[in-house]
Amino acid sequence: MKNNYLIAANWKQNGTKKSLSNLAKGIIQTAQNKKITNSIILLPPSIYIENISTLLKQKTLRNKKISLGAQNISPYMDGAFTGEISANMLKDYNCKYILIGHSERRHVFLEKNKEIAAKVKLAIDSKLSVIFCVGETITERNKKQTKRAIAQQLKIGLSSTVNLIKKNTARLVIAYEPVWAIGTGRTAKSKDIEDVHIFIRKTLSIILGNKSKSIKILYGGSVNEANASSILKLENVDGALVGGASLNTKKFIEICSSI
Ligand code: PGA
Repeated sequence: MKNNYLIAANWKQNGTKKSLSNLAKGIIQTAQNKKITNSIILLPPSIYIENISTLLKQKTLRNKKISLGAQNISPYMDGAFTGEISANMLKDYNCKYILIGHSERRHVFLEKNKEIAAKVKLAIDSKLSVIFCVGETITERNKKQTKRAIAQQLKIGLSSTVNLIKKNTARLVIAYEPVWAIGTGRTAKSKDIEDVHIFIRKTLSIILGNKSKSIKILYGGSVNEANASSILKLENVDGALVGGASLNTKKFIEICSSI
């Protein structure tokens, strides 16, 4: 029986200091008023992390169920890496989660599985939790290579961190996001979501052993207030990674309270 869903808001490269502060306040206050018990993670653009972190510390807005994360992390420790943001910098602002392997990082910024694995290792070594994204492209789906692609992403992405994750499985969350479903208004069919989530569960147990049962597997890709409840009810779906609909307080809260 699933009792605590994890709903993550990926705001991507959207908003301004003002609009995102208002959005965060709206989400936090409405979640409090509606007594939402599911866990919420806010993933602002990095330049606004400090701002949202300060909001989350305010007496009236503090809420154990709402935490902060970052959309990206440097694969290196501190040093000469112009433009990058390190794990320690993110921890300074109370980031608990790091999104790694998102389809836009893989396909727009051409991050490869090995670089992604380095980020996963660095984040876990730094005692951060990772939301690790996997998913097939439309070409892989059409060629019936979905499971092969996902198995490879999981195997390589987690390869250098297996022992650390085994010690603390709460450090890892998986997000299944079919690339063709992200921002397109097309969601995968329930049967396909269930099928892939079961496959991910099995693959995790091969890589990480029995303890992997407690690892949450989120679904992402055009999740909205209308489809959230039917997706969240599916077996092995423990939450959602929400892009577009997380930029609207009402829609996001409806998703969070849909189950
Ligand atoms: P979407 O984005 O909800 O807008 O499809 C999801 C994501 O990219 O994480």
